[in-house]
Amino acid sequence: MVSKTARRRQAPAAKRRVRPRPDMRAPVMLETAGWKDYALLDSGDGRKLERFGAVTTIRPEEQALWTPRLNSDAWAAADATFVGIAEDETAGRWRFHSPLGETWPMRYEGIGFLGRFTSFRHVGLFPEQATHWQWLAERIGQARRPARVLNLFGYTGIASLVAARAGAEVVHIDASRKAIGWARENQAAAKLPDLPIRWICEDAVKFVAREIRRGNRYDGIVLDPPKFGRGPKGEVWEIFESLPELLRACVSLLSGNPAFLILTAYSIRASFLSMHELAAECLEGKGGVLESGELVIREENNGRALSTSLFSRWSPDG
Ligand SMILES: C[S@@+](CC[C@H](N)C(=O)[O-])C[C@H]1O[C@@H](n2cnc3c(N)ncnc32)[C@H](O)[C@@H]1O
Repeated sequence: MVSKTARRRQAPAAKRRVRPRPDMRAPVMLETAGWKDYALLDSGDGRKLERFGAVTTIRPEEQALWTPRLNSDAWAAADATFVGIAEDETAGRWRFHSPLGETWPMRYEGIGFLGRFTSFRHVGLFPEQATHWQWLAERIGQARRPARVLNLFGYTGIASLVAARAGAEVVHIDASRKAIGWARENQAAAKLPDLPIRWICEDAVKFVAREIRRGNRYDGIVLDPPKFGRGPKGEVWEIFESLPELLRACVSLLSGNPAFLILTAYSIRASFLSMHELAAECLEGKGGVLESGELVIREENNGRALSTSLFSRWSPDG
């Protein structure tokens, strides 16, 4: 028999509506083994040998602590090497071993885009994001209606092209006019001029705040913030400072019939558990399934696994 006091103690809790927390799954390792136009050929000694379409590059990779498997001839055959310093992502330059243009054609699942040598060690895409591209395309397909998708920190826009080709109306936000220009070039390279994508050069935090004020809602949201960044008017983005509030705001931007939310973070001194717990708190009341872990690239021929970044992704039905 439950005593009166116990019942009294129970009473308040029972009255309080329990807000379903997402079903939490972690760690989850999302692996990309490459595709026709991308392969991690080898890695080791702090470097990685990759093939992007017809171009082979060598880039610093401080996580590749092991020994390369391929012989030095295979590495010497690379078309370009990014000579940088491991500690400082932004420093360094490309050294070309064969005559190459700034851009070259690539494809993902039939979508054309441009590989591109940029001043940082980036080449115009983050191949490990392919697992996210596939997942969001499936969710948009399952929505059976033109889902509204917001892609924040969208860079060269491959995720936006994939989402729009899958049937979504996309709003693509990036603070860099150059990145927006590259994204538009990718839409042209894809020969998909009519895809419903709005390319907007704006600070992500400002844009989200404005959308909330306007009462706009999105069925899918992708955010891939850098560790540090600046908005078009110098707005400072520092991931540890700004992410909690932005993620909370993004969750409040989700529509009544949401399809997904994907967060990726690169080279930050944090565990995926930090993003997992933050996302769970922001998504309290939404139920669904929250997965967190690392994005991994598998070397060709089932070689070693190279971790690239942390992620959390949510959907109402897992
Ligand atoms: C690492 S990239 C994102 C990569 C991209 N999601 C992809 O996988 O292709 C980070 C992007 O964030 C943009 N950025 C930096 N600070 C920003 C801000 N405050 N608001 C919007 N975009 C910003 C940069 O211009 C850059 O294109």
